[in-house]
Amino acid sequence: MEVIVRPSADEAASLVAWVIAKELRARPQLVLGLATGRTMEHLYGELVRLHREGQLDFSLCRTFNLDEYIGFSPSDPHSYRQYMENQLFRHVNIDPRNTHLPDGSSKDIKTECQHYEDMIRDCGGIDLQLLGIGTAGHIGFNEPLSALRSRTRDKALTPATFEQNAVMFGGNPDKVPRRAITMGVGTILESHRCIVLATGSQKAEIVAKAVEGPITSMVTASALQLHAHCTVVVDEAAAAELQCKDYYRWIFENEPEWTEYREEREKGVVAGKAKKKRSRRV
Ligand code: F6R
Repeated sequence: MEVIVRPSADEAASLVAWVIAKELRARPQLVLGLATGRTMEHLYGELVRLHREGQLDFSLCRTFNLDEYIGFSPSDPHSYRQYMENQLFRHVNIDPRNTHLPDGSSKDIKTECQHYEDMIRDCGGIDLQLLGIGTAGHIGFNEPLSALRSRTRDKALTPATFEQNAVMFGGNPDKVPRRAITMGVGTILESHRCIVLATGSQKAEIVAKAVEGPITSMVTASALQLHAHCTVVVDEAAAAELQCKDYYRWIFENEPEWTEYREEREKGVVAGKAKKKRSRRV
């Protein structure tokens, strides 16, 4: 695992967008695992911008979302399918047939979950999985005590998640669905690469537990410590409780991938503030 601390939420999202863009350019038929939530909104905005500027082609990309609420049809405005349509899919040239979310309105949830696992396997597995972290420590909707080997299944959500997601339901935690289909922790860990985006002070405590705490099913994000290629990108606010920030900053200065990012950023290829060259006074 490596941790990258960026000065702001925008710059954290911009770095994650850069990684996704780099992987998609290198492999146009990339199998991309996607997440929803407020943290991802700026990131999707950035991917849309890159696409509109002709820098990113989604025509061959295949996507699998982490989760979907049970009881909502794909056309329900509160469904994660609609979130994805609004934030990304309808703004880029992705083939709708290549976009996948679990169907939370299925009459047979068990079969739906197995079908989702089968589709991921038939695509050759997920190349790059995007993740957020919930205040309950979850990745996907793998709430505390989810088995670290779990597969796609239905899961009861915790009160902490009702509170966190209430904002999408007019601020009322009682309106947040009680169950969801989620990829399992085991499913997520099989992705070739994971990239986590977490921003804001409300995530500081759980980010420190996930990254520097013990691996435990009480904080399923901590299972990412077992992953061979996982990058956690946070802003300063979400990094506030990390103990080893100086070391993480050293990594950012010295790893070739991030040197490439910093060089592109200097040239203004990447979104965010590129350093302006001082104009010489005459
Ligand atoms: C959503 C998902 C969740 C969120 C997490 C953070 O598809 O998988 O794990 O990433 O709950 O949500 P926000 O960004 O709203 O704080």
